[in-house]
Amino acid sequence: MTARLVVEEAIRTAAAVIARSRHVAALVGAGLSAESGIPTFRGEDGVWTKFGEPTFDGWELFNHDPKAWWEASLENAAQYSDFARSLDAAMPNAGHYALAEMEQHGHLAHVITQNIDDLHRRAGSRHITEIHGNRYLVRCMTCGGRDRLSTISLARIPPLCHECGGYLKNDTVMFGEPIPEDALRECYRQAAIADLFLVIGTSAVVYPAADFPIMAKRHGAALIEINLDDTALTDIADVVIRAKAGDALPAIVEQLHGRGL
Ligand code: APR
Repeated sequence: MTARLVVEEAIRTAAAVIARSRHVAALVGAGLSAESGIPTFRGEDGVWTKFGEPTFDGWELFNHDPKAWWEASLENAAQYSDFARSLDAAMPNAGHYALAEMEQHGHLAHVITQNIDDLHRRAGSRHITEIHGNRYLVRCMTCGGRDRLSTISLARIPPLCHECGGYLKNDTVMFGEPIPEDALRECYRQAAIADLFLVIGTSAVVYPAADFPIMAKRHGAALIEINLDDTALTDIADVVIRAKAGDALPAIVEQLHGRGL
């Protein structure tokens, strides 16, 4: 069983491990954006807990009839769910800024985020893989090219890629949709070269995302978990910080930079 240190001790230990690591990667989940007002998916008030997980119909409809999928998608957007509203109202929180600062100081090489909210980029992080896509982008289903949703015309649906003429879909990865190849390739690369994985605010039950810290662990990387609760990875974590990500990450940065680590 992982030595569950008290939070302050765990934060000091985490900062020391980060400082002596060569290539730190992070796997981030909805728990990091919870403090920005975006609900998580599982647990008591989770979106899936309340409304059930989405079906695979969306992906099947897109493949069968992209025009009908866009019509349904625009109709759903018009209903503007509470979840969508929370995404569009969200601002980066102290946890996002702490990760960006760690990247700027060379303590964090890459963030793999399961979140579609664009908050890492808005907080200043640059080395990001959005494994489940980004709500504000569209992606070509032929060449994989991405554009900001706000820049494409929806006068004609389905919109077509200006590079190759392929069908565009919003970048958010739907249930049943394969993870985009470029994102997957980068995640496997991170899992192969990281000697430390931070696992932040994720229940670690969705694959392939949850696999990357496990792969890294298998080749000798250390794992640091920041979460309010136990997760599927707690038992293999080397340091477990039972705290809010928005509190723990700035405290780690303070240890790293305050002590000049
Ligand atoms: N700080 C740290 N951890 C937190 C916080 C917080 N403030 N608030 C909640 N958590 C933790 C919860 O304890 C839980 O372990 O964040 C985790 C959120 O888990 P999920 O709701 O399952 O979200 P996530 O792991 O990101 O889900 C992965 O599932 O359905 C898909 O596409 C969806 O990307 C999502 C994926």
